[in-house]
Amino acid sequence: MNRDIEKLPQSEAVFCWFFQRKRSVMSDRVIFLKGKKVIMRPMNQETDMADFQRWINDPEIRRFLTGCMPISMQQEEKWFDALPDRHGHIALAIETIEDGVLIGNMALHNINWISGTAVTGALIGNIEYQGRGYGTDAKMTLLNYAFNTLGLRKVCSEVLDFNGRSLRYAAKCGYKEEGRLVQHNLFNGKYYDNVLLAVFREDWLPLWEKYQLQD
Ligand SMILES: CC(C)(COP(=O)(O)OP(=O)(O)OC[C@H]1O[C@@H](n2cnc3c(N)ncnc32)[C@H](O)[C@@H]1OP(=O)(O)O)[C@@H](O)C(=O)NCCC(=O)NCCS
Repeated sequence: MNRDIEKLPQSEAVFCWFFQRKRSVMSDRVIFLKGKKVIMRPMNQETDMADFQRWINDPEIRRFLTGCMPISMQQEEKWFDALPDRHGHIALAIETIEDGVLIGNMALHNINWISGTAVTGALIGNIEYQGRGYGTDAKMTLLNYAFNTLGLRKVCSEVLDFNGRSLRYAAKCGYKEEGRLVQHNLFNGKYYDNVLLAVFREDWLPLWEKYQLQD
């Protein structure tokens, strides 16, 4: 029940305002997966498309995604329109729990139900939120869904060898290098390797147990 904040002493009023605001931020939201720092939800064309289109065109971000073609709003719209028909792909938007800001997206692509495999793709597009543990929380939460709900066995990822941050957060989530596509991607006049990473459920489970116990 909401308390009448105006009738409270100032210190108590601030406290109440904070919790009432926090509760209303959470109660209005669509939540599909909940981590420690982020929630992950189905994408919403109306609210997400402009941010996604801006992020994937941004040179500071697309250099890590091997993107070299401009993506127009019309192309982005088509991508959104095709989402419901993309079988074997589960793409989710990422929001901070604290203030409900849309900060990125993460997906399981190419789900193979027979072999129990998938490939992850990730983007914390809101640069202010990079390097602050949001990607790791989203990835651990998505892996929990992949392994413990969908019953997958192995999740893979491909990372450019100069993407230190992505290699680091993947390692924290249990991914290990399985091989390389040597000098595979041209960036800024030089060829770079694609590092092929993968994490197996049995190697991830102890990390998940530890992760849940951390603050
Ligand atoms: C890769 C990405 C998803 C990671 O999410 P994030 O929220 O930024 O990552 P986190 O903060 O959870 O973890 C990053 C880790 O890398 C470390 N790190 C940051 N910059 C680094 C760098 N240049 N080199 C090595 N490690 C780095 C951080 O210190 C942190 O490790 P720590 O927790 O041990 O300190 C995000 O940065 C991103 O979207 N980048 C742009 C697009 C991209 O690269 N997508 C992935 C393509 S494979």
